Amino acid sequence: MVDLSQNRKYFPALNQTQDGKPVVFFDNPGGTQCPQMVMDAVSGYLVNDNANHGGAFATSRRSDAMLHDAHQAMADMLGAASADEIVFGANMTTLTFSVSRALGQMLSPGDEIVVTRLDHDANISPWLLLAHDTGAVVRWVDIRKEDCTLDMADFERQISSKTKIVATGYASNAVGTINDVKTIVEMAHAVGALAYIDAVQYAPHGPIDVQALDCDFLVCSAYKFFGPHVGVLYGKLDLLDRLSAYKVRPADDRPPYKFETGTLNHEGIAGTRAAVEYLAQISAQPASTRNLKSQISRRERVMAGMTAIKEYEKTLSARLISGLQQVKGLKIWGITDLAQLDRRVPTVSFTLEGHSPREIAEYLGRRGIFVWDGNYYALAVMERLGLEPTGGMVRVGPVHYNTVEEINRLLGELESLS
Ligand SMILES: Cc1ncc(COP(=O)(O)O)c(C=O)c1O
Repeated sequence: MVDLSQNRKYFPALNQTQDGKPVVFFDNPGGTQCPQMVMDAVSGYLVNDNANHGGAFATSRRSDAMLHDAHQAMADMLGAASADEIVFGANMTTLTFSVSRALGQMLSPGDEIVVTRLDHDANISPWLLLAHDTGAVVRWVDIRKEDCTLDMADFERQISSKTKIVATGYASNAVGTINDVKTIVEMAHAVGALAYIDAVQYAPHGPIDVQALDCDFLVCSAYKFFGPHVGVLYGKLDLLDRLSAYKVRPADDRPPYKFETGTLNHEGIAGTRAAVEYLAQISAQPASTRNLKSQISRRERVMAGMTAIKEYEKTLSARLISGLQQVKGLKIWGITDLAQLDRRVPTVSFTLEGHSPREIAEYLGRRGIFVWDGNYYALAVMERLGLEPTGGMVRVGPVHYNTVEEINRLLGELESLS
């Protein structure tokens, strides 16, 4: 296992201090910091290439070349077969509203959409509203309260021959559970339904292979994986081709362009491409193989980087969970069995007797430790666990640039509070 916190040097924001002490960024599930190369790509685009697409002059041509490679970079990151399967948009929520509208064209009253109580509301509300508008019926998959995992027996019960769409998260942004996406996709396909996967929370934590998953759609957001505020949607090419998009007449009728409405956030997309390049170089090549680098594809390098991230983060999860369990009156919501770290990302949420989540977040915030509190739009989870009226949970969300020392600092502050 490589100590990936050596990559901190690439992130200027991590040098911030508060009252003379380094700031600890544990708010990463809400948005990660960016490496310098992402910022350079954003400003480099604006300085050198800033133009609308399709023009007959140098900046527009350079801009179009960047856009093309950015689609390819995301295809490499997600394991898509073609750059044309990658749609850029404002964010995951907007892309999901847009594609769900297009999918609505194939729904009839009485058709069913399956959603889960573990999901962020961005993978629930678009489907509730679509059902409202089309007469489709929404079926909810429950969670197992004891470890905040999906109730797979209930999943079996909710899916039927009437199911047309199954919407599921890859990992929970509230409690960190990684879902068995491959099995869920198989269950959806067995009844002829499409599988729509929200990978926003999973993307910064592990490798993704859309072809191996065989999912029909998968969405993520670059600002959660060290890039700028840009949303990314993968869709199988034949599906994107068949669906009719809500678009203006002069815009290209082919995927992905027909779903990329209006002028995109080009500088953000340049930064997104740089974020993928960052992930591709994270797993340092041993000196002996360095001269082979050009022969190793970007896809392989991203996979190596994400696999290294996944391994490194398990040490963070283990320290965080075992340390939190020592704090008197503290309850972790989610998987705590250290033998099951493969089933969770290091996003760990808790409640502490005698203190509201907001009080704890404020207390830590005053000490330069940034954590989130509330429901983080995972409304259904909080409602199911009965935590909505009491302010949800405190969420600690390390990523690969965090360290065990930072976790120890958090634990020390919580000990003093409890
Ligand atoms: C799991 C998950 N899904 C969806 C979203 C929404 O993403 P976006 O802000 O890109 O719309 C978030 C944002 O926090 C999230 O954590």
